[in-house]
Amino acid sequence: MERDNTVITFEQHTLLQQRRHPGASGSFAWLLSGITLATKIIQAKVRRAGLGDLLGDAGATNVQGETQQKLDVFSNQVMLHYLGLRDSVGILASEENEEPFFLKQSADAKYIVIFDPLDGSSNIDVNVSVGTTFSILRRPNDPHERDDALDLLQPGYKQVAAGYVLYGSSTMLVYSAGDGVHGFTLDPAVGAYILSHENIRMPEQGKWYSVNEAHVDSFPPAYQNFIAGLRSGKLGKKYASRYIGSMVADVHRTLLKGGVFLYPPTADNPRGKLRLMYEANPIAFLMEQAGGKALCGRQRVLEMQPETIHQRTAIVCGGRREMEFFEQCLDEAS
Ligand code: AHG
Ligand code: MN
Ligand code: MN
Repeated sequence: MERDNTVITFEQHTLLQQRRHPGASGSFAWLLSGITLATKIIQAKVRRAGLGDLLGDAGATNVQGETQQKLDVFSNQVMLHYLGLRDSVGILASEENEEPFFLKQSADAKYIVIFDPLDGSSNIDVNVSVGTTFSILRRPNDPHERDDALDLLQPGYKQVAAGYVLYGSSTMLVYSAGDGVHGFTLDPAVGAYILSHENIRMPEQGKWYSVNEAHVDSFPPAYQNFIAGLRSGKLGKKYASRYIGSMVADVHRTLLKGGVFLYPPTADNPRGKLRLMYEANPIAFLMEQAGGKALCGRQRVLEMQPETIHQRTAIVCGGRREMEFFEQCLDEAS
């Protein structure tokens, strides 16, 4: 068969990747199908968000003290439902639930999935892109060797796979299992995620920085100098800014077009705003896999030891040139 005309679905792609790991049981592929099914259902709802009674807040606050939107609640239920049905998922944790769900102790239940069901909620009501992020970790096969609380709190470099789905002008799944970053666009006519961006490599240098600049006065000096330097042409060109306020959308642009995305420490959020385990870690994993970097100050995001599932972190992530310059700004400010 002519390979050129062959459409490769996400399922085919993951099966091909698994062939490189003899002994893979197929349960991981079945887990991933929980994510693809759930995100297709979420995207169908998001696409109808202006119709019916789907907009607005749901009248409750989540564990972060933030107002839950109706679509936050819906997306969370869908993710919990479809992943909870998978035999291989032992533990689930979500931005929207204070406590993780310890579901199964069977030997099969060897995966942990941590997710943000709908990221960028402030953009839902105004028809701007939102997304879902997920991080997949392993726990010991032998139930006797497990310690649920500790197994959950693993640093990001131990992620087996991670990714996001962006509900943008098209719906796109961007995924890595440690073997490069691959993008799959949902073909709405077929209902399948089709490989559209194989082996994404981020440009070494871009032309945009992406940050909520309203907080710049309370950023630590190194971060202020970094942004000022990008703007004034210290990297050979004067950067412009792009900021959507949906991390998934801002990161997606950064991954494809280069540049840098950051959420520094601020007066309101001295440890940063984004959550380590289900926002920063998946993004850091993808950035590194695509040839970029992700730091919290000097520390590699993926090496941070989480203390709680909802812990926040600062993050600066982007291409090689921007990240070198960020480290230089840290040196100069110290
Ligand atoms: P969530 O909607 O899941 O609470 O996350 C929103 C996050 C993230 O998507 C975005 O980068 C950031 O909040 C925006 O924060 P600011 O409004 O403070 O810029
Ligand atoms: Mn979020
Ligand atoms: Mn969210």
